[in-house]
Amino acid sequence: CIDIRTLYKELGYFTYDPGYLSTASCSSGVTFIDGDEGTLLYRGYPIEQLAEQSTYLEVCYLLLNGELPSSDELHQFSRIIKEHSMLHEAVRGFYDGFRHDAHPMAIMVGVVGALSAFYHDATDVHNPEHRKISAHRLISKMPTIAAWSYKYANGQPFMYPKNRLSYTENFLAMMFGVPTGTYEPNPTFVRALDLILILHADHEQNASTSTVRLSGSSEANPFAAISAGIASLWGPLHGGANEKVVIMLEEIVHSGKKVEEFVARAKDKNDPFRLMGFGHRVYKNYDPRAKIIREMCHKLLAEMGGENEPLFEVALKLEKIATEDEYFIERKLYPNVDFYSGIILRAMGIPLNMFTVIFALARTVGWISHWNEMMQDPESRIGRPRQLYTGYKERNYVSIENR
Ligand code: ACO
Repeated sequence: CIDIRTLYKELGYFTYDPGYLSTASCSSGVTFIDGDEGTLLYRGYPIEQLAEQSTYLEVCYLLLNGELPSSDELHQFSRIIKEHSMLHEAVRGFYDGFRHDAHPMAIMVGVVGALSAFYHDATDVHNPEHRKISAHRLISKMPTIAAWSYKYANGQPFMYPKNRLSYTENFLAMMFGVPTGTYEPNPTFVRALDLILILHADHEQNASTSTVRLSGSSEANPFAAISAGIASLWGPLHGGANEKVVIMLEEIVHSGKKVEEFVARAKDKNDPFRLMGFGHRVYKNYDPRAKIIREMCHKLLAEMGGENEPLFEVALKLEKIATEDEYFIERKLYPNVDFYSGIILRAMGIPLNMFTVIFALARTVGWISHWNEMMQDPESRIGRPRQLYTGYKERNYVSIENR
């Protein structure tokens, strides 16, 4: 067995692998993916079983601690998460600093990063108790931060978390409730949202998780590292895709053009247009999350009588054409989880610009589990990728008069 570090040092070798197509950046025991088989396991448990039998909060416990909780442990965990759901009152003031039309993801990046200025009592990243309380605070406060970013954009008063509600109910109540009303979350929406949160909770070394690991590897404050992850997630090639899916579907509906024309554009190498919600770096057979969420999408729309809605019809047509077309088959491009999550969130009345925020809320537990794993790994060291230099050879400075 060759020690890769010795090889680097003695021979001066390094690999050039833009986009990390075949380079592992770390070892991890959190999540397993087999892209060819369409397998996804959280701590060894198949996503299909967790989606059917578990809840998001139980999945959080599993990802963080490595084992499913006993009922006492789940009760205790749930109590702790509820305890931390309030934000420091001074955090309210941060929202006023944003323009009224700020994207909620911009607000999330700022507010989550700013939490690092509030919790000085638990910033020793080498102390397991400190890491634990940071994890609990993050999971707990994300729904409040997310819902307030929506309320701020709407000019509505912020709603505080209510301890009698479940994690997912609380988020919906803080989003849609008003101080003068008696909002009761629709149970179908609660289940659909909980499912979306479970399916997005972790996905091994994606761009945002790798960002959290890389920024955290310098022993940066955990809230700052998670804020970096949120920034990475925002991009349309990652978490921003669910928002872009619905924008694309609406564009197709309103353009009056045929679905086939958009498919042709996606295949045209001179056109940068891509079918949003199609393709995945790892899943080259199918995305197991997409299979689960597709079912929920049909169920929810049937219950709401939205199956004949033009947008959903376009989605089904796209799905059919793309999965029968040679271009997509050859490249193993299938609808991914975000193709369906956007449609569900839209049907629930969640505005487009909140889609990626919900993804961030769900993925927080994954980020913090990876960060925690990295911090306790004796092998882990500061991340420092190499580069292949393509610039000038050494040259002499030329004074400004002689240039
Ligand atoms: N529409 C049309 N063509 C596509 C698409 C698409 N959505 N995705 C990939 N391709 C084509 C590429 O043009 C390329 O073709 P070529 O071999 O002829 O050059 C081939 O398929 C391979 O694509 P890559 O970009 O090399 O694949 P990569 O693994 O780097 O990218 C990605 C994966 C980013 C997800 C890509 O498929 C994409 O842009 N999809 C649309 C955005 C999206 O849905 N993102 C969500 C990802 S899931 C998530 O974050 C939860």
